[in-house]
Amino acid sequence: MSSIESDQSCVHIRWMIRRDMPSVLAIEGQSFEFPWTEEEFIRCLRQRDCIGMVAERNEEVAGFMIYELHKTRIHILSFAVHPDFRRQMVGTAMVEKLVSKLAYQRRNRIVLEVRETNLAAQLFFRQLGFRATGVLKSFYEDTPEDAFLMQYRQAEEAAFDDAQKRIAS
Ligand SMILES: CC(C)(COP(=O)(O)OP(=O)(O)OC[C@H]1O[C@@H](n2cnc3c(N)ncnc32)[C@H](O)[C@@H]1OP(=O)(O)O)[C@@H](O)C(=O)NCCC(=O)NCCS
Repeated sequence: MSSIESDQSCVHIRWMIRRDMPSVLAIEGQSFEFPWTEEEFIRCLRQRDCIGMVAERNEEVAGFMIYELHKTRIHILSFAVHPDFRRQMVGTAMVEKLVSKLAYQRRNRIVLEVRETNLAAQLFFRQLGFRATGVLKSFYEDTPEDAFLMQYRQAEEAAFDDAQKRIAS
């Protein structure tokens, strides 16, 4: 993904395991006004095609993401970085991980809903190539605010590179 240039060499991204839950809940609590409970995380992660990953820095959980794999898209359900690790490219490393999972002509986009008041997240995803593609009116149960639907589409040149690699292999 040519639009992302970063030094995330010390960020390690791996599957979320049960033992990560206290760190994930702490980050969730410090990141959102209406945090998910442990039960909500577990219920979500039990669903087929729902995946949890954590980003580690110096063996400490610095961020996490929960997403669903659909046939044509990846849908981010939750995404947060611990306040102490923000603006250190941890979030960028997690998005790059998702982008690396996109496949030519198949699963070629990433979507998420962002609260209209969450300007930081809008700016973050925007500078990574996501674009607002719609407004979901009164999307949330907890507040009357709307959601912006944001989408990242695999760039044509990336899809081309991917196709070339497949032909070569
Ligand atoms: C949004 C969030 C995930 C960004 O994670 P992060 O690890 O701090 O992001 P990065 O360090 O990779 O940021 C990369 C770039 O995104 C932009 N960016 C990130 N946070 C920003 C902010 N608060 N304001 C403006 N731009 C921001 C900047 O261009 C930044 O580059 P810079 O630091 O060189 O200026 C993090 O702020 C967070 O967890 N917020 C609370 C939870 C949340 O809103 N999640 C998203 C739900 S939709």
